[in-house]
Amino acid sequence: MTATPLHVLILAAGEGKRMKSASAKVLMPLAGRPLLSHVIGSARSLNPVGVHVVYGHNGQQVRDAFAADGSLGWIEQRERLGTGHAVRTALEALETDGKLEGRVLILYGDVPLIRAETLAALVGTGDGLAMLATRLADPKGYGRVVLDAAGKVRHIVEEKDANAAQRAVDLVNTGIVAGDAARLLAWTRALGNSNAQGEYYLTDVFEMAAAEGAPAACVDCDPVEASGANDPWQLAGLETLYRERAARELALAGVRLADPARLDVRGSVSAGRDVEVDVNVIFEGEVVLGDDVRIGPFTRVRNATLAAGTVVLAHCDLDGVVTHGPCTIGPFARLRPGTDLAAGVHIGNFVETKNAVIAEGSKANHLSYLGDTVIGSKVNIGAGTITCNYDGVNKSRTTIEDRVFVGSNSSLVAPVTLRAGSTIGAGSVITKDAPADTLTISRARQTAIEGWVRPVRKP
Ligand code: UD1
Ligand code: CA
Repeated sequence: MTATPLHVLILAAGEGKRMKSASAKVLMPLAGRPLLSHVIGSARSLNPVGVHVVYGHNGQQVRDAFAADGSLGWIEQRERLGTGHAVRTALEALETDGKLEGRVLILYGDVPLIRAETLAALVGTGDGLAMLATRLADPKGYGRVVLDAAGKVRHIVEEKDANAAQRAVDLVNTGIVAGDAARLLAWTRALGNSNAQGEYYLTDVFEMAAAEGAPAACVDCDPVEASGANDPWQLAGLETLYRERAARELALAGVRLADPARLDVRGSVSAGRDVEVDVNVIFEGEVVLGDDVRIGPFTRVRNATLAAGTVVLAHCDLDGVVTHGPCTIGPFARLRPGTDLAAGVHIGNFVETKNAVIAEGSKANHLSYLGDTVIGSKVNIGAGTITCNYDGVNKSRTTIEDRVFVGSNSSLVAPVTLRAGSTIGAGSVITKDAPADTLTISRARQTAIEGWVRPVRKP
């Protein structure tokens, strides 16, 4: 096969009024990122020479949101005269010195579940025009696809222009089209707008191709992939479909899900063998789970790499966490970015960590804040221990060396170091380094007053 260059156009000039939102429709989030970014991701998997977004007059917001992506092309469609006009405007912008080479794939900014494999199949049909169609039990509102005897596209009729027999057709146009760039430009230049909506319909190019003796190929896809979002209800429906797809992929990769309907994947998850995930778990960003990892119920795991055997109990929030061996986390633990745990670490209930590097076998089982700290191995952090890392202006570090025992309810005022083997008496406020292998205690001495009597009520 010759490597014909491929241009991708993503139509996104629509106003998206029915979203009733101040932000542009293609910026609405699906699985935690804009609809448009899903479409761009699928488009890029085809290695196109360019991905160009066709945006409308209020599209600056969209451009700003994707400003970091320097390789996207932006084409403004000032007047919204129909899909055919949008494609013509874009192709004219891509034309150089009256020449336009290669193939074009037309996608929609609000149709985010389209899979890369499906697009590859469409683009792979050959050099001619090809469209992606799907069968719907309720085809209302879509353009109906009329095929010829050979199964090629004879023409497409928009709902508003269709007669009763045409409306009965359940094969609908997804809107996604591939074709030769120069041919498409010539056809879109020849479009008229004498139809029920007074628009330049891209769909009219199919009849032109058929009239030239080269009718378009029709590729079928799963209706899920062609689903769009016009209002928040449909957007929530896409989220459900996305969730089902992600849960299914994880389950088929060997992950045991307590309930696929109660798992949200808003990013990418890779998992080893015998991983178990309980109900109401949310995975975000990049998550890597080693063999035998267990995730308890009502837990969010974001940007985390959990080593084999790590157990996260119920109601935890993990963000930016790495474990290097089996650890136990939770229930009710909050692990923030920079938490790095060696094998055998236990982080128990109501413990918060941030920038905390903790070595083998150390434990903080109850009610603590461990921030900006390096903790050695076999350390015991008593209940209520706080690293006082912030003086209101600067953050400072607490260093806790191997085998330290910190008694309950201790405040460690950073910068401070607890030397190896030191013991901190419960209730201490530690402002100076604690020497190795000694008991350091800083609290008022306990006294018992002999002969003291309780007050008695005045007569
Ligand atoms: C279009 C198709 C229809 C198909 C349906 C699938 C046409 C004439 N009809 O209908 O056959 O079944 O999609 O959803 O193509 N857009 C622009 N600029 C414009 C007009 C539209 O960028 O001037 C963009 C919109 O933002 C939207 C997409 O094109 O993302 C589709 O436009 P829309 O007006 O919604 O077309 P439909 O009537 O749904
Ligand atoms: Ca539409």
